[in-house]
Amino acid sequence: MHVNGQHYRTVWLQSGVVMMIEQNKLPFSFQIHQCHTYHQTCQAITTMVTRGAGAIGSTAAYAMAQAFLAKADANQARATIEATRPTARNLFYAVKLVFAAGMAGGAARAVAEAERIADEDCAACRAIGEFGAALMPENCRLATHCNAGWLAFTDYGSALAPVYAAARLGKKPFVYVDETRPRGQGARLTAWELRGEGIDHAIIADNACAWLMAQGKIDLMIVGADRIARNGDTANKIGTLEKALAARHFGVPFYVAAPTATIDLACQNGRAIPIEEREPDEILYQTGPDKDGVMREILVCSPGSEAVNPAFDVTPVALVSGFITEKGILQASEIGL
Ligand code: MRU
Repeated sequence: MHVNGQHYRTVWLQSGVVMMIEQNKLPFSFQIHQCHTYHQTCQAITTMVTRGAGAIGSTAAYAMAQAFLAKADANQARATIEATRPTARNLFYAVKLVFAAGMAGGAARAVAEAERIADEDCAACRAIGEFGAALMPENCRLATHCNAGWLAFTDYGSALAPVYAAARLGKKPFVYVDETRPRGQGARLTAWELRGEGIDHAIIADNACAWLMAQGKIDLMIVGADRIARNGDTANKIGTLEKALAARHFGVPFYVAAPTATIDLACQNGRAIPIEEREPDEILYQTGPDKDGVMREILVCSPGSEAVNPAFDVTPVALVSGFITEKGILQASEIGL
């Protein structure tokens, strides 16, 4: 996708350095973050300089390649990379493949495999856009949660790829963007992406979606996925489950968009998906520029209260209308095939 007229991927490898869009600074400042070692790349995943399942996958692939380039202990590097974030399946998918390539053929093979995985992610998302756009009528009013746009992948996105494809077809989609507390990936990242692409949208409070559905203002909901179990239970950003419940109640089709790299056949159902717990401070504090443009971190909760911060929830497959993948729109029974 383009920023200020220039094409960017979310993450890329340049002369052994992993380059990535600094997502913690968006939408207030557009910066490129550089990681010179695999340890730095791991740190960038943990601190969410880069985030989103597909972007994490490509970044982890490059981190594994960096370890081979540096002649580091590959087993130790793999364990370190896999410990960065637990939920997104794409990370484990990518690291396994680059590790195997590096062990078989050394650093050059590892780099080539990492690049192949990044390209595969782009191609899958592009196909998801084309399949998903067919679900969207003219003037479709769509709701999404979190950011499953191009920032969450190497390019194009999953849940937002159909929106971009529909817009290119002249269908004029409108997107309701959940703010997605605590980190605000919707309010900050999805809104920034949609503005950049010229897509009409409105940010809504996290608890507004059901009411808009009750009023018949939402035609379709598409969300991304961090891990899909063999039976179709889907882990995605915390808050997805309550949207899916509301969608079922009000008869709004609820689709999950994800490349098949997000499907984990080893997880029989959602109970086997590891759910990341993040720092309570993400709930207690918010960061943004004050009216003079100076970045501030402020307390937004009652001083002294504790917070609990599960980063993902699991939507039971029974609430999912279908899975938009690069292979087409699948039903749950087709996932494990
Ligand atoms: O914690 P994040 O920002 O890495 O979470 C990932 C997400 O953005 C969402 O869960 C998204 O809907 C799926 S990832 C494409």
